[in-house]
Amino acid sequence: MDGMERLSDMDLADPALHAQEDLSRVWRQLRTQDPVHWQPARGTRPGFWVLTRYDDVAAAYRDADRFRSDRGNVLDTLLGGGDPAARQMLPLTDGARHAALRGALMRAFSPRALAGVVDSIRAASRELLTEFLAKEECDFAQDVAGQLPLRAICDLLDVPRADRQRLLAMTSSALGSHSEQGLRQDSWVSKGEILLYFSDLAARRRRSPQDDIVSLLTQIQVEGGPLSDEEVILNCYSLIIGGDETTRLALVGGVAALLEHPGQWAAYTAGNVATEHAVEEVLRWTTPTLHAGRTAGEDLMLHGRAIKAGDVVTLWNASANRDEEVFHEPDALRLDRTPNRHLTFAYGSHFCLGAFLARAEIGAVLSDMRELVGEMEAAGPARRLYSNFLGGLGSLPVRWRPAAAL
Ligand code: HEM
Repeated sequence: MDGMERLSDMDLADPALHAQEDLSRVWRQLRTQDPVHWQPARGTRPGFWVLTRYDDVAAAYRDADRFRSDRGNVLDTLLGGGDPAARQMLPLTDGARHAALRGALMRAFSPRALAGVVDSIRAASRELLTEFLAKEECDFAQDVAGQLPLRAICDLLDVPRADRQRLLAMTSSALGSHSEQGLRQDSWVSKGEILLYFSDLAARRRRSPQDDIVSLLTQIQVEGGPLSDEEVILNCYSLIIGGDETTRLALVGGVAALLEHPGQWAAYTAGNVATEHAVEEVLRWTTPTLHAGRTAGEDLMLHGRAIKAGDVVTLWNASANRDEEVFHEPDALRLDRTPNRHLTFAYGSHFCLGAFLARAEIGAVLSDMRELVGEMEAAGPARRLYSNFLGGLGSLPVRWRPAAAL
């Protein structure tokens, strides 16, 4: 079958497609032949635009007036008629209110403010790697990567230790999924549970504020007034869903990439690659958030296609990060790649607030692995996530040994 014909049958909103197929060839074809692709309506679900070139994706991120986030920023909610948290959660806010809310939160995300969280991440990374290296076999996704990002966010929000495992289970079922069965229902139940949990925590912090982000959210003034209870809760939720599974997927995908590219792992362990460069390549290679969704704020033309005000436009980071016009040999893992201007954290006004934290987590695990891991190999099949938004592996069995010097 001809490639473009096949594309017209393909449903890029279908999670099964992303779970079952490597779409690199599809993205390449779209970038070269149909960079502003229209996926037509299917049943009652509206159609949407698909941007795949790096320059177009970056330009759309930069132009928050014409590509708006305030109806939703992922396909599922946009095609479903809009996100219920629109205009309340930071990533779903535009204009002056977005700038004010982001400005108020920024100070909690500065490298200086995060120093304590980063120290605790480093300690946790060493502790977990040492524990599971001693066992010689583990599921890296669950046992190591599954623990760190949520610990970091829980530190930020000062979530009590006793609640953390429960929160992890809820977030994993709310966003990504490992199977098709019961996906939607489980996901909505878990979202509800997370919101309830934060409603309770926020009420306690409003009564007795501490030095954490939940307390900060209850105290800040945005455009002359405090945030409503609902806004506080939704923004806590946004941090959990934005920072947990994404970072976890980057860590798991990074280790999977090292297993598939032993030469790169050898170069890294030999000290030939700086950790900061390896972190950026892991971020480009894994691209945990496959796309971001926007709504056209006005009628506009792009590469000869007419996008109408109100149309859903999707920005595919997964494709932009493999654009051959920007990255030399984009399908090759090169841990020492520089420059590496990937769009994994988006670009412009919604650039990921947790980028410093995510980089610190990935850097801690990579540099600890370099020191602590001797040999490692895959110990079973990895399992891809079932999602059109989050890309990566839900499970990664590894067999490994501590480095000889230990
Ligand atoms: C925004 C990716 C880690 C908090 C974003 C966006 C992307 C992204 C693509 C832009 C969304 C859009 O434009 O619609 C990632 C990836 C991560 C990561 C791939 C890990 C590898 C984190 C962490 C946190 C976090 C650790 C916090 C603890 C946020 C917040 C926003 C955001 C609050 C909204 C910023 C705004 O709208 O102004 N992230 N993120 N992220 N991220 Fe991350």
